Amino acid sequence: MDTVKIGLCGLGTVGTGVVKVLRDHKARIKHMLGCDIVIEKILVNDISKPRDVAIDRSWLTSDPSELVDHDEIDVIVEVMGGIDGTHELLERALKNKKHIVTANKDLMALHGKTLLRLAKENQCDILYDASIAGGIPIVRTLVDGLASDHIEKVMGIVNGTTNYIMTKMTKEGLDFDVVLKEAQELGFAEADPSADVDGLDAARKMVLLANLAFKMELNLEDVTVKGIRQVTQEDINFAKSLGYTIKLIGIAAMDNYKAEVTVEPTLLPQDHPLALVNNEFNAVFVHGEAVGETMFYGPGAGSLPTATAVVSDLMEVVRHLRLGISGRSYIEPQFKRKLKADHE
Ligand code: NAP
Ligand code: HSE
Repeated sequence: MDTVKIGLCGLGTVGTGVVKVLRDHKARIKHMLGCDIVIEKILVNDISKPRDVAIDRSWLTSDPSELVDHDEIDVIVEVMGGIDGTHELLERALKNKKHIVTANKDLMALHGKTLLRLAKENQCDILYDASIAGGIPIVRTLVDGLASDHIEKVMGIVNGTTNYIMTKMTKEGLDFDVVLKEAQELGFAEADPSADVDGLDAARKMVLLANLAFKMELNLEDVTVKGIRQVTQEDINFAKSLGYTIKLIGIAAMDNYKAEVTVEPTLLPQDHPLALVNNEFNAVFVHGEAVGETMFYGPGAGSLPTATAVVSDLMEVVRHLRLGISGRSYIEPQFKRKLKADHE
């Protein structure tokens, strides 16, 4: 196998980054894998739109079947977002034996279980590290790096947009609406930024992290969610005067095989490591029975950090293809879904 051909769905903030990483790191990727990764087709809404990266215009299409039904495409890289239509597209791709890399936490939080099982049935990979905490390889850490441990808690800042807003409101006294607009212009926010602001994006990421960490099948409805919309400049100033900072914190904890997952604005002492995570950066603490506490820090959103995670997953898919071990990354949940709240 000299070449692996991919179909890229989406050429926005993340998709543009994927094209750049594949182009700028081409030699390194080839050296690591022993083969080239080439883009065969790119799915977009509007093929006539000007693009922020040099591409061969013949790659562009608005017809999904040119990717998912294309005989020579081995991997679909989904960085277009959306839920129902995207779910259908990825199901069709898996049935056509295409491997999947996705940055879509909305889809994985809602349909991850069925997609992962379908992938396994079809001996395909579906990898999604880019969907949680952008440039921090947290999925890989939970699946591989800390695989031998019993994880008891995962806690952190997993939404870049709200952290950007809270940072600018706290440090520069800027208005919520002004900073949200900045976060949108920088490409951090979701197409519908209320998913960020109301905590849903963080909740989706926390449920994925909880399921990976605790080997359970929790649902989005199991997460208690509060966003940052109600946090006022007065709250921030009052917290500051007492030596605290307000951050949107996600916590997934398992105690006695019962889970609890929350996302809410939280008061942190100003010298707490999470209080020092600013702008679009994310940080995740993982507490394991044996390892104790580990902390992972990095850019949580943005074009190149997210694209790095996407392309690293893509490289993992290619390694699996070459070794003939595709579709084996899915591990059945070990424990029944049990919530702390069910027994209180
Ligand atoms: P974006 O900038 O809005 O880009 C979306 C791209 O997908 C555009 O190129 C758009 O085409 C195309 N697209 C959307 N719906 C389509 C459809 N139904 N058919 C064909 N093409 C379609 O989005 P993004 O920020 O790159 O985010 C993409 C995904 O990555 C989302 O799932 C998001 O949650 C996730 N993510 C984003 C970040 C980040 O920092 N932005 C980080 C991690 C994960 P046109 O260009 O023609 O409009
Ligand atoms: N909107 C998301 C965020 C993108 O701000 O964290 C990265 O997942």
